[in-house]
Amino acid sequence: MDYKHLLATQLGSQLEGVDEATIMELIEYPPNPQMGDLSMPCFKFSKLLRRAPQAIAEELAASWKEHPAVQRVEAVAGYFNVFLQPGHLASSVIGEILEQQDRYGSQNIGQGRNIVIDFSSPNIAKTFHIGHLRSTMIGNAIYKIHEFLGYHCVGINHLGDWGTQFGKLIVAYKLWGEQATVEAEGIGELQRLYIKFHDEAEQNPELENEARLCFVRLEQGDEEAIKLWKWFVEISLKEFEKMYELLGVKFDAYTGESFYNDKMAAFVEELKAKNLLEEDEGAQLVRLDDYNMPPALMIKKDGGTLYHTRDVTAAVYRQATYDFEKCIYVTDAGQSLHFQQWFKVIELMGYDWHNRLVHVPFGKVSLEGAKLSTRKGNVIRLEELLTQAIEKTSEIIEQKNPDLDNKAAIAQEVGVGAIIFSDLSNNRIKDIVFSWEEALNFEGETGPYVQYTHARASSVLRKAGERVIGEELPLKLENHAADLLVNASEQALLKQLYVFKERLEQSAQKLEPSVVSRYLVDLAQSFNRFYHDSPILIEDAALRQARLALVRCTQITIRNGLTLIGLKAPEKM
Ligand code: ARG
Repeated sequence: MDYKHLLATQLGSQLEGVDEATIMELIEYPPNPQMGDLSMPCFKFSKLLRRAPQAIAEELAASWKEHPAVQRVEAVAGYFNVFLQPGHLASSVIGEILEQQDRYGSQNIGQGRNIVIDFSSPNIAKTFHIGHLRSTMIGNAIYKIHEFLGYHCVGINHLGDWGTQFGKLIVAYKLWGEQATVEAEGIGELQRLYIKFHDEAEQNPELENEARLCFVRLEQGDEEAIKLWKWFVEISLKEFEKMYELLGVKFDAYTGESFYNDKMAAFVEELKAKNLLEEDEGAQLVRLDDYNMPPALMIKKDGGTLYHTRDVTAAVYRQATYDFEKCIYVTDAGQSLHFQQWFKVIELMGYDWHNRLVHVPFGKVSLEGAKLSTRKGNVIRLEELLTQAIEKTSEIIEQKNPDLDNKAAIAQEVGVGAIIFSDLSNNRIKDIVFSWEEALNFEGETGPYVQYTHARASSVLRKAGERVIGEELPLKLENHAADLLVNASEQALLKQLYVFKERLEQSAQKLEPSVVSRYLVDLAQSFNRFYHDSPILIEDAALRQARLALVRCTQITIRNGLTLIGLKAPEKM
């Protein structure tokens, strides 16, 4: 039962001139149950209705039509508070979760409409670093949450597989590289060559020129250049795919920057035809002075294209191909200007869908004072980070639960989960200082804590199965059983389970996976209070049954939430 909606409908009919949607937005869940299960502040209507908030609240209370879901209502200090019928809440929430299982929380808001999500998008021949991890995990969560809400998502990996850097890399490889070393060491060796190029170019600026020419040859389809480039792409992709496998992330299309090579010319013609292109010292650009932005460079002096050119062309292509409701770009906040610039170019071209382009920026990650910079190569390599996380988790499991089956697999699920969760646990725009202690703390507001709570719930259910041989786990809850779940910790947990759907909606609306990760921490805490206050495996069969149902519902909801943000939910750990 959608209690918020129930309340909004009734209040909407009682409050003249106020629509349901406004009321829906105002309704709160008071943190203190003494102030009701749902509450509506009446301050906003004071002016419209020309009455004091408390007077409005009192009128609402006086004219409230009774409903079986509602125990009582009250007017306090300008708030209209609603107390739900405890048994109603229990049977409705538990009934819904047990029925929907792994679909609990899902909706059909999207009605199959397309959402394109451009995420992860690492650069070929460069390390997959912790900044790309954020893009990967934020994008993945946005993808999964939208799918769960009925959208059709298209995940695109816009690989950085084109640009001047490939001119540099080819030059460096031909000067100092060796096939066998590149084959053996992969991106590490390519990265080394790239850094060497920059070091050498400081002494010898002619190298830069050579690299530029080399990239122009590549753009013109020179056979040798293309062959080397393809090889670099292949080697890099192999490593990236290993990461994606470990992280459990998939894409619908690997259409990197190079995919747009044969599509840019037409687009540049269109810019010209629309009188948007201006020549400046041999280069071609779109002026954005009127919008207080530097110009968007489209064609370089030497005829080469740029990051901008490929992004605008890609957007036009995606719009034509997917007719998207939204096209989302997940990158670090450092690229905000880039996106503002070319979103404006799309607008100036007269495309009305420009406002469906959305940049989803996120803050930087640092680790023990290290800074991220690809050029110098002192980046936090994701592979290293994940390997360490798995090792450290193994050590913890060795101490806490040495007899655990499948230790290696679980260490991986928890270790990787810890890293992902720490990435998603704050508002994405915030910078993160990564700390091992924090991320792997089984008691803190962490992935392992949430996973551990899920494992605890699973273990209770297993034990119940052992104790009551032959008795099915409570997949159905009799009506009277719901009436037994009335203590404070049970009711608090039920309310927490109830708001899951709404949290998912908020998360999608704000494109903010942390809404879900924080919800999961709250849910886990709520479950652990219940677990502490309300013994489950007791003699009283009816109450045991009811509490077990609540445990099952928590297990299902935590698992659904974890899955949506890209974590596994092991049953033992
Ligand atoms: N390759 C870029 C980077 O590593 C990210 C690309 C983001 N997507 C886009 N369409 N610009 O910074």
